[in-house]
Amino acid sequence: MLAITYLPAVAADATDALVVLAGPGLVLSDAAKAADAATGGAVTAAAAAARFDGEAGAIVEILAPAGLPTRRLLLVGTGPAAKLDALAAERIGGAITARLLTSGEAHVNVDVAGVLDGVLAAHLAHGATLRAWRFDQYRTKQPEKQKPTLVGLSIIGGGDADVHARLAAIAGGVARTRALVSEPPNVLYPESFVESARDLAALGVELTILDDAAMRALGMGALLGVAQGSVRPARILAMRWNGTGRDDVKPVCLVGKGVTFDTGGISLKPPGGMEDMKWDMGGAGAVTGAMHAIAARKSKAHVVGVIGLVENMPDGNAQRPGDVVTTMNGQTVEVINTDAEGRLVLCDAIWWAQETFGPEVVVDLATLTGAIIVSLGHEHAGMFANDDGLAGQLNAAGAAVGEKLWRMPIGDAYDKLIDSDIADIKNVGPREGGSITAAQFIGRFIKPGVKWAHLDVAGTVWASKAGPLWDKGATGYGVRLLDRFVADNFEG
Ligand code: BES
Ligand code: MN
Ligand code: ZN
Repeated sequence: MLAITYLPAVAADATDALVVLAGPGLVLSDAAKAADAATGGAVTAAAAAARFDGEAGAIVEILAPAGLPTRRLLLVGTGPAAKLDALAAERIGGAITARLLTSGEAHVNVDVAGVLDGVLAAHLAHGATLRAWRFDQYRTKQPEKQKPTLVGLSIIGGGDADVHARLAAIAGGVARTRALVSEPPNVLYPESFVESARDLAALGVELTILDDAAMRALGMGALLGVAQGSVRPARILAMRWNGTGRDDVKPVCLVGKGVTFDTGGISLKPPGGMEDMKWDMGGAGAVTGAMHAIAARKSKAHVVGVIGLVENMPDGNAQRPGDVVTTMNGQTVEVINTDAEGRLVLCDAIWWAQETFGPEVVVDLATLTGAIIVSLGHEHAGMFANDDGLAGQLNAAGAAVGEKLWRMPIGDAYDKLIDSDIADIKNVGPREGGSITAAQFIGRFIKPGVKWAHLDVAGTVWASKAGPLWDKGATGYGVRLLDRFVADNFEG
């Protein structure tokens, strides 16, 4: 984790990397002007040579500038002042870390005086922190030049301790989620996932664990049907945080799909890219990270995270296409395709969450369908909701933190498509509208009066290339969205 400090000034003889800021039209900050003067105009000359446009996160790097002690001077763009909001500040921070992470520099001073207020300065640090996260623990032979060197960032001339603390709690949640999503499936499986979450108790989170016997007694035939082909037993983990100081406030339930590996089961997936299915627990990962963030910043809300953890494997004991299973709420499901397992896990987890915690609102997150990636690519997650107000709240939260949602339709005409010939429901509809019929399936397990949204995050939890706030790999998508959704709507 990048160590962040806030300082009033840079030491006159500091050799550490130095960042100064400028907007479009080469509007230099005071620190940038001072650096330009000290270097005999090298900053403005380099900006012109690089066709620097002042765009947020654009960087011109000047090595060993004559006239300054720093080894490396970076002129970084802020974008237009009118657009310099929290997200832009985070992008700037992310761009700085991306540039310096393996540069050889251990520390960078970022002079924000006169450009960013304390809140935006804390967001810059947040973006820098998020972009610095890496998953290197299984590398034993990394060449020296590829190893990260940057360990510290100081903000010069601004900061806000409260905002910093809140964002640090959120960054902790994001890091937890990314680690869960990145772990290989021989290491992370239902039981080890639960063990990894035990330390949340130290943050004040109350943990409840259901093992097979408990789930069998509750009648969770759909979830257990998925798990039966695996030697790894299934688990449900509930993580409860009540920051209201009262017992009579109905919680928000966040429910996550936690398929720690999805082979497809007997409806086996093709081998190409199957390793990606280690991140089929991305919904559960996001819920766990969000609970971390919510507890670490001592949210005043009542929130329960529930995750259904299974491994979907082919085996002599695996469920077959054609099997009929009985869910916890008594509805029967014809399993047409054992690869449509996420909805089978979620339906029992969601029903149990409603029975146990009596929520007013349920939001589930799941890497549920390849079809949502066909629809939306990697920019937005798909949102399905039975309540316009809830959809609006989630949309606003996603826009505020840069984890975008796009609302998709649901309705009776789609719902009919999953009626079964021999049971109450079948687990797949036609190929067309595959994300929507998946949502309809889950919708059949929402109690009347409960506001519900389903977020299909299959396209957003993993990135094949680096983004502004993440390296390639696990993005941590969902943590900041859920945290913001809770902060803006359930903290009184
Ligand atoms: N975990 C997958 C969905 C998925 C696919 C996530 C690709 C991320 C990338 C899910 O369990 C699944 O296999 N869905 C099937 C549903 C189909 C059988 C109706 C799919 O999308 O192909
Ligand atoms: Mn599947
Ligand atoms: Zn899956």
